[in-house]
Amino acid sequence: MTILKILQYPDERLHKVAAPISVVTDEIRLLAQDMAETMYTANGIGLAATQVDAHQRLIVIDVSDTRDQLHVFINPEIIAVKGESDYQEGCLSVPGIFEKIKRAENITIRATGLDGNLFELDADGLFAVCIQHEMDHLMGRVFIEYLSQLKQSRIRSKLKKRQRDVKP
Ligand code: NI
Repeated sequence: MTILKILQYPDERLHKVAAPISVVTDEIRLLAQDMAETMYTANGIGLAATQVDAHQRLIVIDVSDTRDQLHVFINPEIIAVKGESDYQEGCLSVPGIFEKIKRAENITIRATGLDGNLFELDADGLFAVCIQHEMDHLMGRVFIEYLSQLKQSRIRSKLKKRQRDVKP
């Protein structure tokens, strides 16, 4: 397995829109495996293919404390939503920034699994929030884009400064 490089905001490639996956090939299964490994290594709870510069509709999620409940969603679609929540969100592409974002509290999702079969699943709480956050990535959207322009530009300068500081 390979640990992939996670794009860091404000990298322009985070704004690419991912393409649907027409066939679940070995290549896709390998990408999902590498993404899961990358997510676990970075102590994240979710990762979208967009974040590793692979612009296909694939996300991996594990919100369990035991880190052994991996979910892989290919071509995910939200088919029903209910309620509202505002969890404090973070993102492996926007390290050190945590902000409350309004999302649906309950969702029903339809997606393809690694076996190529369609399935539907109900999610709520953190799991539902995480799915919505990762699906936004596939549309080229980063969570801080829900914030005011002022807040976004502050975050951008903070991250740019930090990225400059760590360069040799
Ligand atoms: Ni994210």
